[in-house]
Amino acid sequence: MVAQAAGAERVKRVLITGGNTGIGFETAKSLCAKGWDVTLACRDKGRAAAAVASIKEQQPGAQVSSLNLDLANLASVKAAASSLVDTGCADFDVLLNNAGAYSPWEAYGQSKLANILFTYELARRLKDYPQVTVNCLHPGVVRTELGRYMVNSSNQMWMGPAIYLASFFFKTPQQGAQTSIYLASSPDVANTTSKYFVDCKAVASSRASHDASVAARLWEYSAALTKVPADILQPAKVA
Ligand SMILES: NC(=O)c1ccc[n+]([C@@H]2O[C@H](COP(=O)([O-])OP(=O)(O)OC[C@H]3O[C@@H](n4cnc5c(N)ncnc54)[C@H](OP(=O)(O)O)[C@@H]3O)[C@@H](O)[C@H]2O)c1
Repeated sequence: MVAQAAGAERVKRVLITGGNTGIGFETAKSLCAKGWDVTLACRDKGRAAAAVASIKEQQPGAQVSSLNLDLANLASVKAAASSLVDTGCADFDVLLNNAGAYSPWEAYGQSKLANILFTYELARRLKDYPQVTVNCLHPGVVRTELGRYMVNSSNQMWMGPAIYLASFFFKTPQQGAQTSIYLASSPDVANTTSKYFVDCKAVASSRASHDASVAARLWEYSAALTKVPADILQPAKVA
């Protein structure tokens, strides 16, 4: 999910979850090269530090830092959010919810469907705030570290070699990052919201992703898990 907020002409700030490798890392490099201030929100401090160092080595002077965040641990999510608010650093122009993985196919598919449902529900709740846009994307099939989550002890004999062979036909991480970069930074989509993108083009998402009642339940469940009031985002009252 990519949320963009309209802002004045100044250095733009983006928070990329899981930005230490793969598509998130390529997006981070590209936005740094455009002069953006980039924060990588990562669960592994060592991998985060290595990613920051790598970008700074390739782009001396790049504005890039990291934030400790494990999205599988809600206490970590709360601590990360609190540290941003407490230090006055929560005013991001773009939130790129890039991190994502867990367990094999069924859970993975459900998490991706939830991502699209949540995007549409958030957009519905932001309809009176046109300065904030929210979109989601499919990057294509990309040669990243994602395959590590699909291999387990029961399928490693065939899944590992299968992924390796198939990967020659996958996009490179740089190619896979193009839609994320486009949604984060292109003026063409600054006023576009509640869309699903593939190869930098808005396309139709599945019928299941448009079920507004499931989306509302997902919103309420997410609010309960994070202990945030479910009505935190209500349409603005007209004076
Ligand atoms: N590659 C594809 O073909 C493909 C296709 C469709 C969609 N996508 C989506 O694109 C996004 C990026 O994937 P990728 O291909 O770049 O995969 P990747 O190379 O495996 O990168 C995933 C990133 O997410 C981070 N991450 C995973 N779980 C996390 C957690 N609990 N808390 C914080 N960070 C976490 C990882 O951190 P660590 O380095 O610490 O593990 C890593 O930085 C994902 O949402 C993925 O589902 C990818």
